[in-house]
Amino acid sequence: KTPLNIVKMKKMKKEGDPITMVTAYDYPTAQLAEEAGVEMLLIGDSLGNVVLGYDSTIPVTVDDIVYHSRAVARGAQSTFIVADLPFMTYHGSIDETLRSVKRIMQEGHAHAVKLEGGAEIADTVAAITRAGVPVLAHIGLTPQSVHQIGGYRVQGKDEQDAQRLLNDAKALEAAGAFGVVLELVTEDTAAMITGQLSIPTIGIGAGRGCDGQVLVFHDVVKYTSAYREKRFVKTYADIGATIRTALEEYVNEVKTRAFPAEQHAFNPDQEALDSLYG
Ligand code: KIV
Ligand code: NA
Repeated sequence: KTPLNIVKMKKMKKEGDPITMVTAYDYPTAQLAEEAGVEMLLIGDSLGNVVLGYDSTIPVTVDDIVYHSRAVARGAQSTFIVADLPFMTYHGSIDETLRSVKRIMQEGHAHAVKLEGGAEIADTVAAITRAGVPVLAHIGLTPQSVHQIGGYRVQGKDEQDAQRLLNDAKALEAAGAFGVVLELVTEDTAAMITGQLSIPTIGIGAGRGCDGQVLVFHDVVKYTSAYREKRFVKTYADIGATIRTALEEYVNEVKTRAFPAEQHAFNPDQEALDSLYG
């Protein structure tokens, strides 16, 4: 199967073939996602929350994104990889913005970048696109602006807000974005926007009418110590509980000297593997 690209994505929209995307922040997850047939991976700045333990995406840096993106790119060499531009890295000069984009592409080995914002960042989207870098736009609930929005609120609830989001989506499409993430947008508004664009919409908490779906990996598999139910998420495994149980057993077996056992120990005619890890 050939990897997804932005030309193919437009065709998938036309044909009604849903685009699948999940976040990934490390090598083994990227490998597993690729093996599972996920078509597009996102090094989201949600890594701030789910991997680094911050309470928002605001502290995430270009260094963080590059570090994680490199690992993902090594794990998923046949998958389309998008990386987030972090907070305040695309609101200064175009030169400064392009320097961050360059690092994410060259050092992070991403194939595209994602930016949060509407018509007000259309010029920035156009500049990045002109540099040959595909841009995935992101409107609706934009977590980098959470303090301006006043919380993680559902967007597009009334006619006026739906129109605002549509105008933003149209401006981003005109600026050259290859797709638009719609986050926490009411189902009708998201479907309306999807119908008005020639580029695909990728929804998260945006209902059934989008051209594709994205979720945070740690939500999909409940990879956390205390999962908080979210209406827009479906969990497909409980990895958190599996990991906790495994580690409890490990602690118990070391304490009781059940591990290591004879089969885990070396005598002089036994060797370890060529590579110990991976
Ligand atoms: O950072 C992230 O995970 C995202 C997705 C929620 C779209 O931006
Ligand atoms: Na993000």
